[in-house]
Amino acid sequence: MKELILTLIVSICSAQYLNFFVVTDIHYDIAYQQNYSYPYLCHSVGIDGEKLNPVPTNDTAPLGRYFCDSPMTLAALAFQQMKAVNPNPDFILLLGDSVAHFTSTLLNQQGVYDKEADKNLVLSTFTKVTQLFTKYFPNTQLLPVIGNNDGFSDYQIPEGVEGTNYLKFLYNLWSPLIGFMTDTFMKGGYYASITKGGLNFICLNSNYFSTHIKLPLIEADEQLEWLRSQLQANRAKSIIIMHISPGVSMYGKGDPDWDNDYVTKFLSIVTAFQSKISYIFAGHYHFGFFQLVPGTQLSIIVHPSVSPFFGNNPGFRYYTLNGNTQDYIDYTYDLNQTGWYTHSFSQMYNLDTLNFTSVYSMLSKNFTMLNQFLARSYGLDVEPGIANEYVWNLALGLNYTTQQSLGRSVMLCSMQYLAFSDFQKCIGNVRGLLRGRNH
Ligand SMILES: *[C@@H]1O[C@H](CO)[C@@H](O)[C@H](O)[C@H]1NC(C)=O
Ligand SMILES: *[C@@H]1O[C@H](CO)[C@@H](O)[C@H](O)[C@H]1NC(C)=O
Ligand SMILES: *[C@@H]1O[C@H](CO)[C@@H](O)[C@H](O)[C@H]1NC(C)=O
Ligand SMILES: *[C@@H]1O[C@H](CO)[C@@H](O)[C@H](O)[C@H]1NC(C)=O
Ligand SMILES: *[C@@H]1O[C@H](CO)[C@@H](O)[C@H](O)[C@H]1NC(C)=O
Ligand SMILES: *[C@@H]1O[C@H](CO)[C@@H](O)[C@H](O)[C@H]1NC(C)=O
Repeated sequence: MKELILTLIVSICSAQYLNFFVVTDIHYDIAYQQNYSYPYLCHSVGIDGEKLNPVPTNDTAPLGRYFCDSPMTLAALAFQQMKAVNPNPDFILLLGDSVAHFTSTLLNQQGVYDKEADKNLVLSTFTKVTQLFTKYFPNTQLLPVIGNNDGFSDYQIPEGVEGTNYLKFLYNLWSPLIGFMTDTFMKGGYYASITKGGLNFICLNSNYFSTHIKLPLIEADEQLEWLRSQLQANRAKSIIIMHISPGVSMYGKGDPDWDNDYVTKFLSIVTAFQSKISYIFAGHYHFGFFQLVPGTQLSIIVHPSVSPFFGNNPGFRYYTLNGNTQDYIDYTYDLNQTGWYTHSFSQMYNLDTLNFTSVYSMLSKNFTMLNQFLARSYGLDVEPGIANEYVWNLALGLNYTTQQSLGRSVMLCSMQYLAFSDFQKCIGNVRGLLRGRNH
């Protein structure tokens, strides 16, 4: 009887509609100045170790500027739009990088680097971003993860006493909004939670797996073992969320995002427990993307950013899921023409489930559609005049006229393979041609 009731509850829950937002890479820039242009990262002060002598411009950009991180006005604009779309979503996912790219290395007004002052700027940034959630969505559950710009130094995880204080700070700020969370948060900033609709969330701190981390940390292996045990223990399916995904960014980069050992371990875990995973979500790239998990029906869904730092238009994503139909709408704000534009998955691909195997198959057969995908991923399809040449240079670092077959391979291979050696083999070992870029 108890079993029957449980089964009934589970099936009622899974038939329920779920509406939620994914917002990521807000990169709120606490030092943003509207009258400083992008060569100075929209700052009136310099950056430690870089030769910048900021001078102001008359061309002010109160809502944000391409190639700069977000002013508060832009972050707030995204939240206003989210609230207009649905003031009462089931939950909101925040997939990391709340903090701007150079906050931890800003010089002060005197031109001096003051690490302690910058740490306080990082913490103030978190407070301000969290206030956006409590202001616009006071009753909504938040599920945040930590990104590579969220520490006190890019890609490095605060350690020792500093690390404990850092996690305590985030725990105090976030836990009232998260609700139930496992005590693993204080161990390494990762945790599991359960949402109102009864969904299991496994929220990773994928900074531990990054190729940029200076020391191999014991928490990386512990976290992956914990992921395995969570999937094993959960009766119902789980959703895995993280900032940096294990694959290779479409930009080519020339470098994998995760250390190879962790990619292998992650793949073996998600392959073994594929029937227990419903979705895997990531941020970090600043463009809407997907990566198939080889040998499974799973994919990692990568989300557009609020920050226009890579010349992309700002955006966020709104999901509507139920058992049989799944869709999302991308909301894109065109910084040039100042307005919101929407594109739904179902409209773009004529599919009623988020089947990226199917999307991949369409894109691999139709070059026009692949180019539309690329422009869409950067939120650039809202400006009809934008040429493939511009999009390729921005998004791939490649020349549309002379590097067409390489560009096509880079796009399709990074959708197909998570392990770097497989990606390289797929593009034909042309590593030297690709430029890297720091996310
Ligand atoms: C730049 O903006 C600040 C306020 O944000 C203002 O105080 C300053 O006068 C402006 N400078 C120029 C050159 O416009
Ligand atoms: C900015 O505006 C001031 C006052 O209108 C003008 O003197 C100056 O030439 C302008 N600077 C630029 C770079 O246009
Ligand atoms: C915005 O306008 C500038 C100047 O007209 C143009 O160069 C650029 O391609 C436009 N779009 C984006 C997304 O930057
Ligand atoms: C996704 O579509 C492919 C065909 O493109 C199909 O083989 C596969 O079963 C579909 N997956 C799911 C989960 O429906
Ligand atoms: C390729 O995609 C474009 C854009 O979606 C579409 O207009 C065209 O009909 C497709 N071509 C084929 C051969 O399916
Ligand atoms: C691409 O290559 C062509 C031919 O070499 C050149 O004319 C064009 O300027 C290049 N485009 C870009 C964006 O560099």
